[in-house]
Amino acid sequence: MIETFIRDIPKTELHIHIEGSLEPDLMFEIAERNKLVFPFNSIKEVRSAYQFTDLKSFLDVYYEGAGVLVQERDFYDMTRAYLKRAHAQNVRHTEIFFDPQTHTNRGISFETVITGIHRALVDAQRHLGISSKLIMCFLRHLSTDSAIETLKQALPFKEWIVGVGLDSCEVGYPPEKFTRVFDKALEEGFLTVAHAGEEGPAEYVRQALEKLRVSRIDHGVRCVADTQLVKKLVAEQVPLTVCPLSNVRLHIFDSIKKHNLKHMLELGLCVTVNSDDPAYFGGYITENFLAVQEALNLNHDDIYRLVKNSFEATFLDKQRKQYLITELDTFISGYNQRGMERHKGDTFTHSMHQTLNKESCDRGSLGSV
Ligand code: ADE
Ligand code: ZN
Repeated sequence: MIETFIRDIPKTELHIHIEGSLEPDLMFEIAERNKLVFPFNSIKEVRSAYQFTDLKSFLDVYYEGAGVLVQERDFYDMTRAYLKRAHAQNVRHTEIFFDPQTHTNRGISFETVITGIHRALVDAQRHLGISSKLIMCFLRHLSTDSAIETLKQALPFKEWIVGVGLDSCEVGYPPEKFTRVFDKALEEGFLTVAHAGEEGPAEYVRQALEKLRVSRIDHGVRCVADTQLVKKLVAEQVPLTVCPLSNVRLHIFDSIKKHNLKHMLELGLCVTVNSDDPAYFGGYITENFLAVQEALNLNHDDIYRLVKNSFEATFLDKQRKQYLITELDTFISGYNQRGMERHKGDTFTHSMHQTLNKESCDRGSLGSV
């Protein structure tokens, strides 16, 4: 069953806003212990407020939700909860965004935010074996001076942050506006990524590549409007961290069946699947995979390609990356072996296996690998 395959395959997640993983029950618990007056009376009420018309309407609710986070332990608990869920879905490695300005603008210190998140990451590595990297995002609706000030605040914690990103409202806030702060970040040794081509035009994807010198594009689904840009993204195999359920909930696509993920794969783009803000959009990484598989009729090869792209696109060192890719390929071999034993032909023919003899492929199942 392809559903079991999706659930079991080792995964990595490259596009998750930690504040977007705050589930209503934990939000309530944290609000209560911080003695905050909260605009909702029940978890049900919170969930029913999660009806969005576009990115802005979501962000208004999302920033309000993040307002319950005050103490170091709040950031710890939120991060720990996400890591536990990710681990349960066989996520081996995750690269997590956080939005410091959402908190520092409310008087919470940068140190409080990052120490809580970092402590949870260290504990999860130790107890769950899940590795992680942290990416600090600048809010693009705020000024470049605010972004520069945030970068300064981050420098004492440089060892804990692998890169910087750009998120929040996209249209009207082009990447090039942030060239100065991204130049400084690159000088300091940070890698760069940026949300682009989510609600904004393909031109923003081009700017992110050329002006912000990003290693990955977050979302990027609108790149397909520009053929020359697609050519460049394919030639350079720039990873695109696509978030299908988010795109539907924010009306980037009318339905999951209309999502262009399969088309992007067919164009040869380096697409990955991610959850964005799972507590708000109805699913973590596995639910995202299940939704696109069913709606777009993806096969085992497609799922494997998406997962492998993610592992290749991580900011991990060579050794851990290779370790995880080997684990992935061992999983595939075991899956095929079990499929053969069941004689159900529930196997697939990705490139790793294409050297196998034609006869076994014609039978619809693969020889042992
Ligand atoms: N912040 C959290 N989720 C976001 C999204 N999907 N786009 C831009 N900024 C975000
Ligand atoms: Zn995002």
